[in-house]
Amino acid sequence: MEANTMRTQVAIIGSGPSGLLLGQLLYRAGIDTIILDRVDRDYILGRIRAGVLEEGTAALMDQAGVGGRMRTEGLPHDGFDLVYDGEIHRIDLANLTGGKRVLVYGQTELTHDLMDARDAEGLLSIYDADNVQPHDYDGAQPYVTYEENGVSKRIDCDFIAGCDGFHGASRASVPASALQVFEKIYPFGWLGMLSQVPPVSDELIYSNHGRGFALCSMRSKTLSRYYVQCSLEDKVEDWSEDRFWDELRRRLPERFADDVVTGPALEMSIAPLRSFVCEPLRFGRLFLAGDAAHIVPPTGAKGLNLAASDVHYLYEALREHYEEKSDAGLDNYSAKALHRVWNAERFSWWMTSMMHRFPDMSDFDRRIQRAEFSQVVQFEAASATLAENYVGMPF
Ligand code: APR
Ligand code: PHB
Repeated sequence: MEANTMRTQVAIIGSGPSGLLLGQLLYRAGIDTIILDRVDRDYILGRIRAGVLEEGTAALMDQAGVGGRMRTEGLPHDGFDLVYDGEIHRIDLANLTGGKRVLVYGQTELTHDLMDARDAEGLLSIYDADNVQPHDYDGAQPYVTYEENGVSKRIDCDFIAGCDGFHGASRASVPASALQVFEKIYPFGWLGMLSQVPPVSDELIYSNHGRGFALCSMRSKTLSRYYVQCSLEDKVEDWSEDRFWDELRRRLPERFADDVVTGPALEMSIAPLRSFVCEPLRFGRLFLAGDAAHIVPPTGAKGLNLAASDVHYLYEALREHYEEKSDAGLDNYSAKALHRVWNAERFSWWMTSMMHRFPDMSDFDRRIQRAEFSQVVQFEAASATLAENYVGMPF
């Protein structure tokens, strides 16, 4: 074999949570992987993403042997507050779901834990890889090419896992005629701020207010993550820290607004909101997982959890292939994962629709939105449906 060609069983494109978690699970099943990413570790760890783990996601971290720090530092949450025009309704997750809860643990920390575990086992991850491209996945001998410091390299493999996020090369390599995409863009964004201050409440607060949506979240008891709905035309530079804090407080019920502790911003960024699904998730020996295949608006905290369920199905399918010589799991992967994806898409779209002020809302739309909230308040069955979706369907 030439020096610039390597071989592995599963070539994983993307070193985000999907790629890293898949790599760790496969390693524990004795399956060899190489992970490729176009950026470096620090860049990946610098991205601030959501931080609410379903029990299934946390269990998968345990199964991958990387749940230690998550279990000691993660904050179990039994419920959260939904607010509509100042009216507060607590969703008691634990009571509504027969004892289920979520774990608040930042995606950055989870990614860190996975990278550390991969390093500790001496497994190969190639960062700063340019022009990563999957090839020949319609046949029996797929391979991936990339460039490292200007030198062309190649990895021969049995399978390619496309875990390279929404803008990755994997989905982009599939001819448009072989896939179908479903997409919805929302007419606003979320401006997020991370600040080293104690959270305003022990639980998350989702608030729909006349001035727009606001969310109070956290990373720990001393680190808060807050969001306010903003215009798509807004730039981060338009928002001073004072303006952010002011706007956040105005969108919260008085009970909370008075208690917001302010401090310097460690990070501020604007994210657009999008719903997106690509079908199918399998193209011969290429499998898409996580953000490479689907995006949800962050309102239901489902992005990372959907990545985890894809990885769970894909891992089981690959393990079955190698250990049991059965391809049933690989054949079913797309349909199984997509079933769960569409449930989460519906929930994320619904939470987003109920909790935001849409710029083109008529008075009728506003009354219907309020009635939707009232349903949740009045009917325990409606709250229970919300709670079941929030804690997540079993994998
Ligand atoms: N070649 C190689 N790597 C790439 C390429 C490419 N062409 N394009 C993107 N990547 C890498 C990115 O640099 C990134 O590190 O793929 C990785 C994808 O990671 P994520 O975007 O975090 O996607 P995923 O691992 O599926 O995690 C999903 O991220 O956006 C959140 O809400 C989402 O929490 C969920 C999670
Ligand atoms: C976050 O903490 O960043 C967060 C929490 C819940 C959400 C979205 C984001 O629904």
